[in-house]
This record gives sequence, C-alpha cells and structure tokens, in this order.
Amino acid sequence: MKKLRLLLPLLIALAAAPATAQTSDTASAAAPVRNQAAREAFLDRLMQRMTVDEKIGQLRLVSVPAGANPDKPRLLADIRAGRAGAIFNTVTPHDIRVLQDAAMQSRLKIPLFFAYDVIHGQRTIFPIGMGLASTWNMDAIRQTGRISAIEASADGLDMTWSPMVDISRDPRWGRTSEGFGEDTYLTSRIGAALVRAYQGDDPAARGSIMAVVKHFAAYGAVEGGRDYNTVDMSPQRLFQDYLPPYKAAVDAGAAGVMIALNALNGVPATGDKWLLQDVLRKQWGFKGITISDHGAILEMIKHGVAADGRDASRLAITAGADMSMSDTMYGENLRPLLDSGRVRMADIDRATRDVLRVKYDLGLFQDAYRRIGSPQDDPPDINAESRLHRGAARSVARESLVLLKNQGDALPLKKQGTIAVIGPLAKSQRDIMGNWSAAGQADQAVSVFQGMANALGDRARLLYAKGANVIDDPEIVKYLNLYEQDVEVDPRTPAQLVDEAVATARQADVVVAVVGESQGMAHEASSRTDIVLPESQARLLRALKATGKPLVLVLMNGRPLSLVWESENADAMLETWFAGTEGGNAIADVLFGDYNPSGKLPMTFPRSVGQIPLYYNHLNTGRPFDPQNPDKYTSRYFDAPNGPLFPFGYGLSYTTFGVSDVTLSRTSMPRGGKVEASVTVTNTGTRDGATVVQLYIQDPVASISRPVKELKHFQKVLLKAGESRQVSFTIDEKDLSFYNAQLQYGAEPGLFNVYIGLDSQDVKRGSFTLR
Ligand code: BGC
Repeated sequence: MKKLRLLLPLLIALAAAPATAQTSDTASAAAPVRNQAAREAFLDRLMQRMTVDEKIGQLRLVSVPAGANPDKPRLLADIRAGRAGAIFNTVTPHDIRVLQDAAMQSRLKIPLFFAYDVIHGQRTIFPIGMGLASTWNMDAIRQTGRISAIEASADGLDMTWSPMVDISRDPRWGRTSEGFGEDTYLTSRIGAALVRAYQGDDPAARGSIMAVVKHFAAYGAVEGGRDYNTVDMSPQRLFQDYLPPYKAAVDAGAAGVMIALNALNGVPATGDKWLLQDVLRKQWGFKGITISDHGAILEMIKHGVAADGRDASRLAITAGADMSMSDTMYGENLRPLLDSGRVRMADIDRATRDVLRVKYDLGLFQDAYRRIGSPQDDPPDINAESRLHRGAARSVARESLVLLKNQGDALPLKKQGTIAVIGPLAKSQRDIMGNWSAAGQADQAVSVFQGMANALGDRARLLYAKGANVIDDPEIVKYLNLYEQDVEVDPRTPAQLVDEAVATARQADVVVAVVGESQGMAHEASSRTDIVLPESQARLLRALKATGKPLVLVLMNGRPLSLVWESENADAMLETWFAGTEGGNAIADVLFGDYNPSGKLPMTFPRSVGQIPLYYNHLNTGRPFDPQNPDKYTSRYFDAPNGPLFPFGYGLSYTTFGVSDVTLSRTSMPRGGKVEASVTVTNTGTRDGATVVQLYIQDPVASISRPVKELKHFQKVLLKAGESRQVSFTIDEKDLSFYNAQLQYGAEPGLFNVYIGLDSQDVKRGSFTLR
C-alpha cells in the first residue's frame, strides 16, 4: 500500500481532469473576496504582530455547549489571552456576544468565529439529508440552504459544519441519514448547491454563513457500516465515486473542509498529508481551512499511528489539519514541538493564516459583531414563531416524501369517516425533526397526528393509539437515551399496547400506522446490524393487518430499511424520512391528496441486510445473474433474489407517467462534441403531478470494467393530467469520462448506452459511439 500511496500523487498529477461530477451548480463559485492583495497584505501585517502562542491559539476550536458551563471563566480567560480561535455549539447572539467581547479584550482583538452543526436547518428544521435528496429539486434544496444561513446568521453564527456529502452504500451506517445517498452525481449537485446557498454572493454578508464540507474523505464507506470503522478502497473507486462530491463543494467555494474520523487505506485522514495537501490543496486548489473532527487528533493514538498526544499533534499539523476541534492537542503540544524542532514555524504559520483568512472573508475584521448585532437587537424570544420559515419547510417537506406502494389507490385518503392513527412515532414532535436538528424546538414541530388533525378539521374522526414502543430492548433504549432523551418508554406491556391499538383500529375505516426509527436510531454512533423495523413495531403491524382494515404505513426513518413483509402486507407505504418542523402538515398534504407525491429514492432499499452493499451502479461481473435464465454458476444468492426491494430513483405518484423511446440527435459523437438525448414524458393519469426524468450512461466496453449504468443528468418536471412534454439532455465527453487503471481521467472511444426512465431500473435505451 505504501508503494501505491507514493505512486498516487504522481498518478493523479497525470490525470487529465480532476474528480468532479460536472454540475451546473459548480459552474460559478461563491464570489471571491474582491481585493485579494489587500487581504494578504492585511494578513501579513497581522501575522507579523502575533506571538507564536497567539498563532497557536488561533488553531484551537472550542466547543461551548449551551447551559451551565463550569469552564466558562477559564475559557473567557483563555480567549482574552488569545488562546482560542473559534467556538462552536454556542447558538444565541446573547451567549455568542459574551465570548466575542472577551476576544475584543485580547491584545490583538482578533475576532472569534462561531460555528454550529446547521445540517438541515437552524430554527426551522427541514427534512434530513436523505429527504432533501429525495426531492431531486435543486431550487428547493437551495432554498433550505439560504434560509438556514439567514436563521443561523441571525443567531450570531458565522459557519456551518455542512454539507455532509459522504457517499454511502451501506444503510447499516446511521449517518446515511445525514447524507444524500449512494449516488456521486446527485450528491455532488446537492453539495455544491448548498455551499452556494449558505455562502450567498458574498460570504461577508450578514445573511451568509460559511460552509464546511465534510467528512473528507470517504467516511461513508466504513466497513460493515459500523461508525468510525476503517475504510479501504481502490484508488479508482475513491476518485470515481467518493471524492467528486467534496470536490464539487470545494469548486463551489466551500470555505472549509472537515477531516474524516476514519482511516483511509490505513492512514487516519487527520494525519493524511496526501489527502490534505496533495489532493485537496495541490490538485483541487483549495484555499480555505481544514478542521479536524471532534477529538480526532488525539484519536490517532488509538488508530495506532501516534505514540502520544504530541506525536499526534505533529502528524496532524504537518499533514495539514489547520484547526483542532475540541481537543487540547494543539494548545498543549505545538509549542514544545516547535521548540524541539519537530514542527516547523511554516506549518503553524500556514494554518494560522488559513484561519485568519477565513475570518477576513467573513468580514469579521471589519466588524466582529457583524452577525451578532448589538444587545438591543437581540430577539426578545429566541424561539419566537416569527423567526421560523414554516411555508418553505412545508413545501420542501412534501417534495421529500416518497410513495413506495399504493395498491388499489389506498391513498389518497378521503377526508371523511374514521381514521385510526397508530404507532410510536405518530405523535412525536422530537423524532420528526430528525437528528442534528440544530436549534429546532420540538414543541414547534408538527407531528403526523397533528398534521392530519389540521387537515381534517371536523370533517372526519381521528383516533389514536401508541400501539408499541419504538423498541422494547431495555439495553438499546438505555443506549439511545445516553446523551439525550431519545426514546420515551410507555410502561404498559407490549400486549396491552397492541390490544389498545387493535381495538382502536376496529373502530376505524382505515389505519395509518406511523412506524420506523427514533431519530437517535439513525444518527452518529447509531449503526445497526439489521435494518428491519424493531420487533415491537413489526408485532403491532401484524396485529393491525389481522383486523382486515386497509393499512397505510407512514415510515419515519433515516436509512433504507428492509421492508419485505410490510411491502407485501400494507396497502400503501409512504417513506417520510424525518421531515422537519412542518413534517406533519406536509405528510397530511400527501396522505389526503392535497399534494401529489413526487419524491424519488436517493438510495437503494435492499430486501435484507445480507445484500449490503447493494447499489444501482455496480459492475456487471463476468457472470451476471439473468432472472430470465437463472443459471447456477452466476453471481447470485441462492436464498434470496439479487435485486433490491425498491431501486435507486424509484417513487410513485397518484398519477401515472409514460416515457417514449429515446431519440438521439446523432449516433456518432466526435471528440469534444455533444449528443442530445430526448424522450417524451406523458402524464397518462387524471391528476397533475411531478416526476423526475433520469438519464444514465453505460460504457459497455472500456479498458476497465464500468458500471451497468451511472446517473449523469436528471430533470424534475411537472405535468398536467394528459400533458406530454419533450425532455432533453445534452451529453458531453465529461459524462463519458472515468479514471482508468492508471488514474488517468478521460473518455474512451466506442459504444455508449443511454438509459432514460423514471427510476434506475425501468428505463428506455438508446446508443451512440464516441469516435
Ligand atoms: C461529527 C461531525 C460534527 C462534529 C461537531 C462530530 O462528532 O462527526 O459531523 O460536525 O461532531 O458537532
């Protein structure tokens, strides 16, 4: 491996083009600072005045959570002494001001910047990453980023630890919930769109915050889906599939990069000079700050690459990790390392300059209180309703819902009769906000039950029973409740809960069961070895099914689940992820047909955990399984089908769509040329509706084996009932390019297949050749 790592920089230097999934969103980065020479001159002057200790102080990123903080006096003294560079986890203008005031009392008055995990909203909580990705609507996603920036900056924040663009093909990993799924192109588009939305035209503007893309690199590929585990990956896969989303965010102007906690091919990312310098800085031209993840420098001891904290600090600073998040490593060790000659001043200077440059670009040297404002501007009620953006939250949330099944038009429901709403998540206001819900307040979130009640008024009778606890296993409940009250346990026995639910269901015309995972089950440190519904809820569903009432499942979960029984027994299934503050209203909009669902899955739903990793853009193998001719010695399981339960890109509507054959503008494309691929999409049903037209490309004969198909373009179209529209895509050479065995990037001549459809499986084919 060492040899390959030595070889890699050389190989990528030879690469014809960098690892970018081309996107319209990456075309123009957030506007650069206008006068870079003036900025650099300012930084030169400032750095000349700084002592070594003040420089080291700038590299410390300190967590100051809300609430009683016994360390506050010591921290304030540290800030006054210039021993802290930035703060995260403090989230109100009032609390932030206290810290900035201390910085203004320091010798050089270098302002702090303030960051937070504003992942899918600050006060108004939007759907989690999986849900945002399910919209396939870049305008909607951009809007969530813009509102997040406006709300976060109004709270005094300068920076967010987002977007999270880790590609994941393993739903056992709880953090799949935070990302945008398994696909490189879709994730790249979303990551770039969010960066530009957060940062706006001018990152120094009051309504803008800086974006820190994470977790660099390949954190989503942890072995076995177990959080923080090792990642081991071929360079081709790394460059082709896993790196482009980070690169797209960097190209879009992301101010920062957060370094992954995992080791990549044996080297912890925090100490990976190749990753942080050769790839990020030299190849990609990144100019911002790099930030180690929580405690990651110290963790290099346990990774087994550093003997002690000093050694770990040396590794991190020389590799290129500018700031140390939430550990004392740089503060304690950089000075002695410098004094003993094991770290060069140039390394510390470089990192310090990166931090100061970001502060400059944030406009903090002009006005340290730019986003904090003055005390008289502090909102009298930080959680005031007027500070929320409910309209946008509802419209994005409804687009994030994916209709997985709708047998016999079980949905939409009629606003009449008696409806039983059952399940441990039906009335939850905390779960519907999802993980990393920033400053969102659960009591401002609309539960599914409440949303349905709002939609119905007095037109129908709504009944409720909890039916089950989210999970029964007391050990798991204890785990989930370790740092935050996640699962509320109803003390009644499982049988009592089910009996009540069954009695409730019997009184109703239809049952809506709201089941899935608590938000804490799909989070950091929330890996699962199985991805089924917990037995408490499966038991409930079996009992509800036995009542013979129509059964509609509202699924709330952060990862693809294995839902075989459910897909065979429920009449309808709506995947809602964790839909945010307005989730309940949005879900009701879809359940009652006030909004026609249009979401599409950004990640494959396997039938069972044993199929993992299961992803649509796999290689064909030498013995692909053919269901028409099911041979024994083919690449298959003998105890289960090969394919997914629901494929990537899948999602139903209350209307139906037809897709014509593919027409191509030419069948032979010259180098540097373009081919236009078109289909006519028709709304063949009786309701207006939106769908996502997806274009995939396959290179069936190449110098290395290429995926059976790869997403290259998509368009979301809204069609009136009966309406037809031609949808066209322009394919260029970049869409055909890949990294070959020598890591050279480019397109190889020959045949290409173009597939267009409304999911990754049900597609029409055309083909052309590249000359
Ligand atoms: C996570 C990051 C997060 C950081 C700060 C870490 O545990 O891995 O994604 O940004 O904490 O909260």
